Amino acid sequence: HTVEWDAEATGKSGYDHFMLKEIHEQPRALRQCLQGRVDELGGRVSLDLDLDVERVQFVACGTSYHAALYGAALFRAAGVPAQAFFAHEYAVATPPIEDDLVVGVSQSGETADTLSALREARGRGARTLAVTNVVGSTMARECDDALYIRSGPEIGVAASKTFSAQLAALNLLALHTVGAGDDDRREVIAALRDLPGDVQALLDDTDAEAVAREYVDSDGFFFIGRDKSHPVALEGALKLKEISYAHAEGFPAGELKHGTLALVTEDTPVFAVVTGDGEAARKTIGNVKEVEARGAPVVAVTDGESDVARYADHVLEVPETHARTAAVLANIQLQLVAYHVANELGRSIDKPRNLAKSVTVE
Ligand code: AGP
Repeated sequence: HTVEWDAEATGKSGYDHFMLKEIHEQPRALRQCLQGRVDELGGRVSLDLDLDVERVQFVACGTSYHAALYGAALFRAAGVPAQAFFAHEYAVATPPIEDDLVVGVSQSGETADTLSALREARGRGARTLAVTNVVGSTMARECDDALYIRSGPEIGVAASKTFSAQLAALNLLALHTVGAGDDDRREVIAALRDLPGDVQALLDDTDAEAVAREYVDSDGFFFIGRDKSHPVALEGALKLKEISYAHAEGFPAGELKHGTLALVTEDTPVFAVVTGDGEAARKTIGNVKEVEARGAPVVAVTDGESDVARYADHVLEVPETHARTAAVLANIQLQLVAYHVANELGRSIDKPRNLAKSVTVE
């Protein structure tokens, strides 16, 4: 007798796709990212980086650009001017650099557009930092410094665990270099410490598959969110487009009434990312009411702190946490929705048409 096995299926450890395996690897990926870097008792973060940060420019593409938007918001929250740029735009229309640290965010460390932007910045005298998953990648070698997100290899073309680890690593970077701003440092650190467990709890109990089945045949999908939920909305839409080929659009919730509202119908579910119960949540709930009035189904992705569930057809819950880590958790619900929509449609999830894991041409 011979034992039948195939290397690919073995690599997927029983999951149907690498992407689903990688989604489920997120508790471990986050633990690895945080390991030895947060000292909870002392409320300190220690990274092997000696940086004096006055201003920051982030450069990145795709999912990593969404992480960069989130990272820039963390620095601004600490009073440090920070902005995220699409790397391909930065390379051809470089903004003025004044004492800026230029941070390239890239899973692979090989994305040509991001490398060009960083070369441009270095040529103009900026100090550069690579936030990457790949030790020894071109970006890690060319930049002055590197911060590794330590996710382990990601096989699926669609980024999943590496996005979550990028968000965690950017929190560490901001805490280490400029602090937590108005947020309570100890609370942020405690939320980061609890994040792997919170992700596991979410993965163990989620309605994402049921929501995906309900809306798989929709005409289009919209994703809205404000502040730290804005990059989550963008990433939710990108993930769905990449692997399901459905038309999806993500944008800051406030933009809805400036055009996209014209596309909203009963066949376009709107995913509203609403965490906390502050001004951003209150205003996004206002947008939820606007789409509801047009008959659109609403899926609220929420930590339950606001009353958004009252206006939603479905709720995808995330464990209670800090506003910063809520973004990581909310995004994981959207990863699962994208995965299950694509799976229902029988798509080539790990290798979507026309896409490459690492885009090494400009
Ligand atoms: C994400 O799912 C995509 N694979 C893509 O947007 C990717 O994030 C982008 O090409 C940047 O890649 P990088 O992180 O390796 O630089």
